[in-house]
Amino acid sequence: MSEINAYIQSNKDRFLNELLELLRIPSVSADPKYKNDVLRTAEAVKEKLIAAGADNVEVCQTAGYPIVYGEKMINPSLPTVLVYGHYDVQPADPINLWTSPPFEPVIKNDKIYARGACDDKGQMYMHVKAFETMMRTNTLACNIKFMIEGEEEVGSSNLGIFVKENKEKLKADVVLISDTSIIDNKVPSISVGLRGLSYMEVEVTGPNRDLHSGVYGGAVANPVNVLCEMIASLKDKNGKITIPGFYKDVQIVSKKDRAEMAKAPFNRKAYLKDLGIADTKGEKGYSIMEQTSIRPTLDVNGIWGGYTGEGAKTVLPSKAYAKISMRLVPNQSSEKISKLFEKHFRKIAPKAVKVKVSYHHGGEPVLTPTDSVAYLAASKAMKETFDKQPIPVRGGGSIPIVALFAKELKVKSVLMGFGLDSDNIHSPDEHYGIFNYFKGIETIPLFYKNYVEMKS
Ligand code: BES
Ligand code: MN
Ligand code: MN
Repeated sequence: MSEINAYIQSNKDRFLNELLELLRIPSVSADPKYKNDVLRTAEAVKEKLIAAGADNVEVCQTAGYPIVYGEKMINPSLPTVLVYGHYDVQPADPINLWTSPPFEPVIKNDKIYARGACDDKGQMYMHVKAFETMMRTNTLACNIKFMIEGEEEVGSSNLGIFVKENKEKLKADVVLISDTSIIDNKVPSISVGLRGLSYMEVEVTGPNRDLHSGVYGGAVANPVNVLCEMIASLKDKNGKITIPGFYKDVQIVSKKDRAEMAKAPFNRKAYLKDLGIADTKGEKGYSIMEQTSIRPTLDVNGIWGGYTGEGAKTVLPSKAYAKISMRLVPNQSSEKISKLFEKHFRKIAPKAVKVKVSYHHGGEPVLTPTDSVAYLAASKAMKETFDKQPIPVRGGGSIPIVALFAKELKVKSVLMGFGLDSDNIHSPDEHYGIFNYFKGIETIPLFYKNYVEMKS
């Protein structure tokens, strides 16, 4: 056994317990109720970086939640890797659907159950423990900078400002991120793409007050009915989005590349069974894998209005609302798409209602190279620990800051995640495999080793 693996082995329980400790703090960035907990988590990450051996560790204030920075510069002539991750988590709602409380981590069937277990505390903390391992075994092969933020789940807008203002401090040869998934524990993969995002909120107003649905119903436009009609019209029967110009900039993937992508294993039956559905309903002409990676989409994330309490209340509501997101692919622009959406949504509104459209956070899509030294180093590292060459796959989720790293720092990212799509991130009973946690801790030091060797 290598010295590195021996160190990991003899510190296994502590590595696990430290993660559980971190998972006990409810660092929900979206809900101001958890403000103190989010701040406490930043302090905890800082302490862990110091304990692992990082220098110049600081909690950098922003207009929102702070960014934890730390570094180990061993030799300016060696390459520098910037590790990015996030310590904030999604809200735990709906809490009643959790089998065990979201912020009281438990281990069941070799998996850690807690909000943030996979996304992203578990994956981020693998890097802290891998770093500790390299420090204690004297095997750190290059310079490392850590940048762990607390606002990823709410759009990273303050991190964007921080990156623009700290280009020198963040200077690096590559960004390494574990915040994505692999195909299967037996089929490793590396994400080579992320979708962008446009997130809108709409408000449709009918009459100036709630009305008796018997007295007025039939004549006065019901904003909930109207909103449903409007939303339904946003996709046609082939699953194509009807917003004019929506597909104009979409990068067409060649037949050859699509054939290459189709080689990644995918089991439709298992997919349907896992989700408890009889069929999917995506854009015609594309496979499920394509529909969730190389093609853009539009989804309602939430819709409300009128009476939703106990029993029945006859009412013709004054207002209806929806939160609508669009996942974007290269070369769509989040700003352009948001504007096209607004224009179209206003246009399709009948005269009987008024429409308000507001913009939430967005992010640009990215593709990362598969021929860079960093990608090849990650690929080799995973090959070594999984005993199988990882497959490059484009993912469907978004990490808005990745496009900004490329634009502002002129540095590419490697998305070496270790989660599984079935880990229930953003859902009740989020979990992370102990196998995956330690596989990450084991693989990361090999990435550094390979990267330095292959770069020189
Ligand atoms: N880690 C995810 C993104 C992800 C998950 C990418 C799985 C690929 C596979 C990240 O924390 C996330 O949830 N991002 C948000 C973006 C946002 C809130 C702006 C998303 O994708 O919805
Ligand atoms: Mn994440
Ligand atoms: Mn997330």
